[in-house]
Amino acid sequence: MLADPTHVDGNEPLGRWATVLAELGPDGIAWLVLNRPDKRNAMNPTLNAEALQALDVIEDDDRAKVLVLTGSGGSFSAGMDLKEYFRDVDTGGQVARAQSRRVTNEWQYRRLRYFPKPTIAMVNGWCFGGALTPLVACDLAITADDAIFGLSEINWGIPPGSVVSRALAEMIPARDALYYIMTGTTFTGAQAAAMRLVNEAVPREQLRERTVELARRLAGFNRVVLEAAKTGFKRARNMEWEVAEEYLYAKLDQSIANDPDHSREEGLRRFIDEKSFRPGLGTYKRD
Ligand code: COA
Repeated sequence: MLADPTHVDGNEPLGRWATVLAELGPDGIAWLVLNRPDKRNAMNPTLNAEALQALDVIEDDDRAKVLVLTGSGGSFSAGMDLKEYFRDVDTGGQVARAQSRRVTNEWQYRRLRYFPKPTIAMVNGWCFGGALTPLVACDLAITADDAIFGLSEINWGIPPGSVVSRALAEMIPARDALYYIMTGTTFTGAQAAAMRLVNEAVPREQLRERTVELARRLAGFNRVVLEAAKTGFKRARNMEWEVAEEYLYAKLDQSIANDPDHSREEGLRRFIDEKSFRPGLGTYKRD
């Protein structure tokens, strides 16, 4: 693996736990870094609990406009921790198992999927099994083209755990999902982009720069409108059309009512009255 593109001098610490870091960079970009590099950022119960706390910190900090999820040490995450999440929890009985699953799912998809701020997964290396759930839960994803992905569960004797299969069904064609679930073979970042598991695969040395560029663009939008836009899409896609119509109009009206900048009126004014910008080609520059 080449140099780790995750860490940047000058980021302000928002929280440091045993296995997770939360940092705030310039332009309101919050970095949630899975930080067990020696274990390839495998997700043990501690990491799952700490990631949940980090989400709270980032959600509650008004300066954080965009969340980027990544891993330290040249790995995104080697998935669930085979020792601490599987073997050790087995010995704890039903309650320990239920608790461990609850915390895992809470951060990996319940909270992350509907996080009120835009989210980007930056895949900087190994990405296996359970790591695909938070990857899919993020709104957008960018990977190094040489990162290695895999649904390795079949290789060690289980079907994909938790909601990994559901997450895959959300994002990639069934042929690809079944192929990788059933063969356990790896695929590269470039292949992940081709099957639309991620938005883009870029050369490793450009990964951070491209992620920051995208994050800055998202940070520039009105946050109320952006939240309504992404949540509306995610929630409505599995609804009946008529239910979606009700829901999306309610979401639209909620967005207009809650937008402190009155972006809609301003956008209309600048296009129709002032003729100072063309919304088809970009957003207007705020004063
Ligand atoms: N769970 C627990 N420990 C893990 C782990 C996992 N998912 N992935 C890596 N580790 C640990 C290894 O046990 C090793 O620990 P040690 O140094 O104390 O012995 C350390 O991380 C480094 O692993 P290693 O295999 O030597 O690193 P590598 O860079 O050669 O290979 C992987 C990286 C990701 C290919 C390999 O570790 C692996 O196959 N991991 C399991 C992936 C998996 O099946 N995940 C799905 C879980 S749902």
